[in-house]
Amino acid sequence: MKNQDYLYLDHAASTPMRKSALDKYIEAESYGFANSSGGHKLSRDSKNLLEDSREKISELFNAAPGEIVFTSGGTEADNWTIKSLFDSKRLNENLVTSNIEHEAVLASADWVSSNGHQTKFAKSDKNGLVNKNEFLKQIDENTKVASLMWGNNETGVVQPVKEVSKEIKSINSSTLFHSDVVQGIISDNIDFHNSGIESGALSAHKIGGPKGVGAMFINSKYKLPSFLHGGKQELERRAGTVDVPGIAAFAAALEEQQSKFDEEVGLMKDERSIFEEKIKNSLDIKIVGESMNRLPHISNIQFKDINSEVLLIQLDLNGLGVSRGSACASGAQKPSHVLEAMNINPKFINNHLRFSFGWTTQIGDGSRAADIVIKAAEEMI
Ligand SMILES: Cc1ncc(COP(=O)(O)O)c(C=O)c1O
Repeated sequence: MKNQDYLYLDHAASTPMRKSALDKYIEAESYGFANSSGGHKLSRDSKNLLEDSREKISELFNAAPGEIVFTSGGTEADNWTIKSLFDSKRLNENLVTSNIEHEAVLASADWVSSNGHQTKFAKSDKNGLVNKNEFLKQIDENTKVASLMWGNNETGVVQPVKEVSKEIKSINSSTLFHSDVVQGIISDNIDFHNSGIESGALSAHKIGGPKGVGAMFINSKYKLPSFLHGGKQELERRAGTVDVPGIAAFAAALEEQQSKFDEEVGLMKDERSIFEEKIKNSLDIKIVGESMNRLPHISNIQFKDINSEVLLIQLDLNGLGVSRGSACASGAQKPSHVLEAMNINPKFINNHLRFSFGWTTQIGDGSRAADIVIKAAEEMI
């Protein structure tokens, strides 16, 4: 099977680069290749391209240019905010987050607790939603950082970020409110200031940009300590030679995404709904969080009597690429912490697959994917 005939429904894990981003990358490598910190013309060209990209990206998220710091991706941005505000001399401080966050947040939370601070988790309900009041209940006078993701990467369930942000400051005005919006930006419009998010993690490769590039939004009222130490790049906030071509490609991908947003997200929504309807009519399945407000690109399906590891292989052999959940966890073959947090019956926890649509989704993909799934599943029953 040629790659172009293979149906890719794993956009929540990563997406192919948009042509506009790839073109920009190649163009930028030819004139923006110089070190953006240098003192000659080529460095100035590179620096101009960097600042131009920062401006474009900040505008798209209603942020000031100085509030965007480029990183190697969402993982680094999550790590940075969560870890860097905890001071080893003030061990009474705590972190509040949820038990359905991405591993980048959960492992950072582990780091916080292993360094002697307290970490408190708001629990998801059976639909994959963290209740606003449950989350706010955990905040106290010692909460340094609170972190709640925009939309979950395994279920797509949208979390009450805006509702939490409205009330969090009345409990503790100095708690920094972080949100991992890595999946959110695939299919939702995010305005950091209007959503009350003070720090946000962004990743380029989920929206048609390059891998290894991302950004952190940080409200200008905060000055986070540097996370990487070395040179004085990124206004002394992040050391290391800046990947200007990658960042320019990120900006190009976001610009293209914005210009086609309604069309692309409309297609994701339509194709997901055709896909879900069709398999629901033929197979004994459950759609995780079906009644909830979900990011329109994600569909997490529980198959009644089918092990998803085996089904995944069958789908792959039949030209459909999907995943068992978070890409970071799938290699480990561990049950998903998100499904566990939702109290999914252990009998069915290994019967889930995540199908995720994205910017390359075409009319007909939902129906084609459903046909492949139905055929493979029927052969396995
Ligand atoms: C919700 C969420 N946060 C963080 C990440 C990590 O982003 P990156 O791959 O850019 O480090 C991912 C990627 O899978 C994600 O889905």
